[in-house]
This record gives sequence, structure tokens and C-alpha cells, in this order.
Amino acid sequence: MITVAIVGGGFMGSTHAAGWMALAERARVKVVCSRSPERGVRLAAVAGAVFSTDLDGVLEDPEVDVVDICLPTGLHRPVALQALAAGKHVLLEKPIALTSADAEAIVEAAARSERTLMVALVLRFFPEYEEIERRVRSGALGKALGATAYRLSPPADWNTWMQDESQSGGTPVDDMVHDFDQMNILFGTPRTVIARALPGARGHVQALVGYEGAEAFVEASSAMPSTYPFSAGIRVLCEQGLIEHGFRSVPVGEGNIGMTAESFVSIYPAGGRPERLQLSGVEPWTAEIAYFVECVEQQKRPERGTPEQAYRALQVSLATARSLRSGRTEVIE
Ligand SMILES: NC(=O)c1ccc[n+]([C@@H]2O[C@H](COP(=O)([O-])OP(=O)(O)OC[C@H]3O[C@@H](n4cnc5c(N)ncnc54)[C@H](OP(=O)(O)O)[C@@H]3O)[C@@H](O)[C@H]2O)c1
Repeated sequence: MITVAIVGGGFMGSTHAAGWMALAERARVKVVCSRSPERGVRLAAVAGAVFSTDLDGVLEDPEVDVVDICLPTGLHRPVALQALAAGKHVLLEKPIALTSADAEAIVEAAARSERTLMVALVLRFFPEYEEIERRVRSGALGKALGATAYRLSPPADWNTWMQDESQSGGTPVDDMVHDFDQMNILFGTPRTVIARALPGARGHVQALVGYEGAEAFVEASSAMPSTYPFSAGIRVLCEQGLIEHGFRSVPVGEGNIGMTAESFVSIYPAGGRPERLQLSGVEPWTAEIAYFVECVEQQKRPERGTPEQAYRALQVSLATARSLRSGRTEVIE
């Protein structure tokens, strides 16, 4: 039985808590550690845990095996490093960090540590994105030539720090990192990016990422009207067909990003009939946490959500932010 401390009792802390509770036979949440009692105490009660504001005390607790970091992004580096130094396994929300230097520090600390550190790049655990990766890798539709992804949301209504770019990194870092990670899965090493923001729509960004032999376009927004349902999707054009996924959500609980209301994966082969796939209704955050638990139990390094993968996705985000400032194509380091 793995004992868990959730650090950060907000939107993602609650989402992860539901995942941990679904794995009650293998893990239990002992403590929710957060800044202020309002949300944290409520979450601790739901998770059957105690509430604490004392991070040092939580990290000194020998019973705690796993620290699940769901804090604002600027706190990822100090808390992840402190947790690894205290001998804890770490599940770290995306993006890995706000800056290259912070991300490098986490990558290096994780490489030195004998503990598991996984970055919660949850799209890797959505059955729809997994299916697209499988189909593209199988080569059944021929070589993948390029892809278009979108991630469109009203401004987050469950906190204020996300709208402060110095704390969240803005749309390129906070939102697009999901899709950049997916594009890296499909097309390999990202080389260049050119990005534009919609004038007058703060937080609406379009980026074209160059890969060896492929191009990827990502549109992301935190500037949609508050009545617009959070929507995301991807379309991959291959030599002999196309595969497409889209979903729209309805709000639940605190945030205006909600449960999936509508989701599809369709395949359009160059010949024959289009096919709409029926995928299992796996809950991706539970699948992600189950995979992390498996890695901890079997003392193996994760292959999905590695610090290196998260670092590479962040590099595309940071180059996108540079391109928005420079107006030019930026090389991804
Ligand atoms: N995978 C996804 O789809 C997804 C979606 C959303 C967010 N995220 C990521 O998850 C992380 C957390 O985001 P969230 O939406 O859960 O944020 P949130 O709802 O604002 O929750 C953050 C929690 O951290 C606590 N906290 C502790 N120290 C803090 C400090 N110094 N400043 C501000 N808050 C502090 C907050 O305390 P209070 O209760 O006192 O405010 C709050 O409970 C971020 O890295 C974000 O990018 C991922």
C-alpha cells in the first residue's frame, strides 16, 4: 500500500485525489498539504486524509512514500527537489516548470535520484490520443505528414495566478505544452517554431512547429467566451488517410474545464469507408496515476511522462513564447 501526500489542494489536487481514491486497494491519501484551509480542508475530508500547511513536516513523515505536486507551476522546482531530497517518489503536474533552468534542475535531480519522478502529461493517458499514436506508429495510413491540434478554453475561473503570465507561462506554457508533447510523440524532435497571437484576444495563440519531414500546427486559447465549452482535438494527415479526434466538455465542480460531454475518434482512409471508433471510457487521470503506481511498485522508471519528454515539450512552449515576442521563427534548443 502506497501512502500519498497531495501537495496543492486546488483543481488538480481534487482531480488527482479522485484518481488516487479509485486505486484505494493500492494507495491511500494520508495528507493534503496546501496553503490555505478553504479548499484544502474540504479536499482532505473527501479523500479521508488530514489537512496540513506544514510541507517540511509532511516531507519528514516516513510513512509518506509519494508526493503528488499539484501546485502553481512556479513552485514545481523547489517542491519537487525538496521531495526527492527527502526520499519521496514524485508525481508532478504539467508543465514540468516555467523556465529551462528550472526544468533542467528537475531533470537532473530525477536522474540522480533512485526515486520515481513522473510528469503528469495526461494526454498520454487519454484513450483517444493513445489510439492515434498506435495507428500512426502502425503505419496503416502511411507516413504521417503533419497534424493540427486545438485547445480552446475560457479564462480559468478557479484561481487568479493562471492569468498572470509570470506565474503560469501563459498559453504557450500552460496550455499548448499538452499538444506540443503529442506532436513530439508523432513527429520526433521539434526544430523550429513560428507563432502569432490574435491581436485583441489575450491568450489566443497559433504556432507552427517544424519537424524533420513534417509540420504541426497548434491553436490554443484562454480567450474564449465564458459560455464556450472547453474543447480540444487533433487531426493527423497521413499519406493514405486521416485520423481525427475531438472533444467538448461540460463544467463540473470548481473549474470551467469539465468532464467530457462529447468525444470521437474517426478514421478516413484514402479508399474505402470512414470508420468511427468506439473506445473504452477509461478515466485518464486514474489511468495516469495507476501507471505511476505501477512504476513505483515495480521500481521502474516511467516511459510515459518522463522528465525528458516534459522538458522537450516545454522547449517548444518557450520557443513559442520567444517567437511571439520576436515575430520571427525561433530555433528550438
Ligand atoms: N493536466 C491538466 O489538464 C491541468 C489542468 C489545470 C492545471 N494543471 C496544472 O496543475 C498545477 C496546479 O493547477 P491548479 O489548476 O490545480 O491550480 P489551483 O486550483 O490554483 O490549485 C493550486 C493549489 O496550490 C495551493 N498553493 C500552495 N501554495 C501556493 C502559493 N504560494 N500560491 C498559490 N497557490 C498555492 C493553492 O492554495 P489555495 O487553496 O490557498 O489557493 C491551491 O490549493 C499547475 O501546474 C497547472 O498548470 C494541469
